[in-house]
Amino acid sequence: MEFSIKNGSPEKQRSACVVVGVFESRKLTLPAELLDKAAGGAISDVMRRGDMDGKSGTTLLLHNVPGALCDRVLLVGLGKEKDFREKEFGQAIRAAVKMLNETGAFDASIFLTELAVRKRDVAWRIRQAIIAARDATYRFDQFKSKKDEIRRPLRKLMFSVERRNELAPAEEALIQGQAIAEGMALAKDLGNLPPNVCNPAYLASRAQTLAGELGLQCEILDRADMEKLGMNALLAVSNGTRQPPQLIVLGYQGARANEKPLVLVGKGITFDSGGISLKPGADMDEMKYDMCGAASVLGALVAAALMKLPLNLKVIIPAAENMPDGNATRPGDIVASLSGQTIEILNTDAEGRLILCDALSYAERFNPDTVIDVATLTGACVIALGSVASGLYANRDGLARDLLEAGDAAHDRAWHMPLWDDYQEQLKSPFADMTNSGGRPAGSVTAACFLSRFARKFAWAHLDIAGTAWKSGVDKGATGRPVPLLAHYLLQRAGKL
Ligand code: BES
Ligand code: MN
Ligand code: ZN
Repeated sequence: MEFSIKNGSPEKQRSACVVVGVFESRKLTLPAELLDKAAGGAISDVMRRGDMDGKSGTTLLLHNVPGALCDRVLLVGLGKEKDFREKEFGQAIRAAVKMLNETGAFDASIFLTELAVRKRDVAWRIRQAIIAARDATYRFDQFKSKKDEIRRPLRKLMFSVERRNELAPAEEALIQGQAIAEGMALAKDLGNLPPNVCNPAYLASRAQTLAGELGLQCEILDRADMEKLGMNALLAVSNGTRQPPQLIVLGYQGARANEKPLVLVGKGITFDSGGISLKPGADMDEMKYDMCGAASVLGALVAAALMKLPLNLKVIIPAAENMPDGNATRPGDIVASLSGQTIEILNTDAEGRLILCDALSYAERFNPDTVIDVATLTGACVIALGSVASGLYANRDGLARDLLEAGDAAHDRAWHMPLWDDYQEQLKSPFADMTNSGGRPAGSVTAACFLSRFARKFAWAHLDIAGTAWKSGVDKGATGRPVPLLAHYLLQRAGKL
């Protein structure tokens, strides 16, 4: 889909469809009012007859509106004016784009981006509109032999701004929104791929392709490389599978070479059966999503590269499959991690922290400014926060604040969780430096506490995205989160927000 920015009046648009908003209790937005005037009251007539009541999420398509140059007018209900916020803005764009996709319209001029959203500027509205539009039209049908063809798919969307002096910031936001949407689409595609396709080697080859396309550095470490380094925690996870593990390292250089990089680490378990601590069968297919951390850091990297952000970035993806087998790691096994600390593996299903701890130690070599890991780490985080917020942990309060703010701005929220020493008690082992499982109480916290022991040498944050990376149910699928949060953090760090 193509996007552009325009400044003009709705009745003068020659596009296939003009989209304007209406509030509940028949209150027209300004662009709707302009159309209404040109049409001699045709729109307020429709509202008065009750065909459109302005309720949030509703739409009404009108043809042959007098006085307007467009072929169609789409009215979008916005709910009550006093309740119109960020969420309602996104919903309105989604409803509009979904409806447009079902009409024969090839292009459309959307005037919803002129709506005031409390505390948000025009750049925010344009970014979010593009992200919502791409999200609403996302499809993953590459494994369907018959794809549901859309008769005449929507190709071009024009977003309007109210004033000429908003054109420049809107154009910049357009680039940003497209970059973030592109990163999200990649994260969704990778997440949705079946685990027999998306295995560690596949992730590595996709990383290499991306590097070629975007001019990134890329290095892949194989099992032998990791053995030499002593990444035994990571390697222990892949003992039970025929799929060789991979450590994927990508680099984007947008600033001077001597500037310290931000490092993003993503959990890349391409399938988590639990290993010998086998998971129950119900919904086990969803454990193909256990590489969504990896997918999201790749998505954030793509977004940063497309926005040409003036900063240096490294992405580290420990990729492995967790399977039971005669050679698999047993509960009770003890391994020495890359950091030298020893780990008693009490539960082979707590595998994410094992691959991440070695990846975090590996990050030290880049002399990082900040390290952020992203992982579908614990079922406990789903219980704590559901699918609304990602769990956020950090060993610096300032970093936590920045990430919370980024999540807020992106409407991809996180919630700050505690990393207090008191929780470290749960990781005590009689035989090794620590166990890999703190038991059921505060499961998301103790997982983060485990990781914190490998992040002492740098500013570090951890996002537990077990509840936010995908949605379950009939229309299950990867969400692309937390690409928007990460991208906004990077924008903020680059001084662009
Ligand atoms: N990948 C899972 C976490 C998960 C579970 C994400 C359900 C989304 C939905 C992770 O590897 C895991 O199995 N964690 C265990 C840890 C426990 C054994 C300490 C968990 O959460 O049960
Ligand atoms: Mn697991
Ligand atoms: Zn897992």
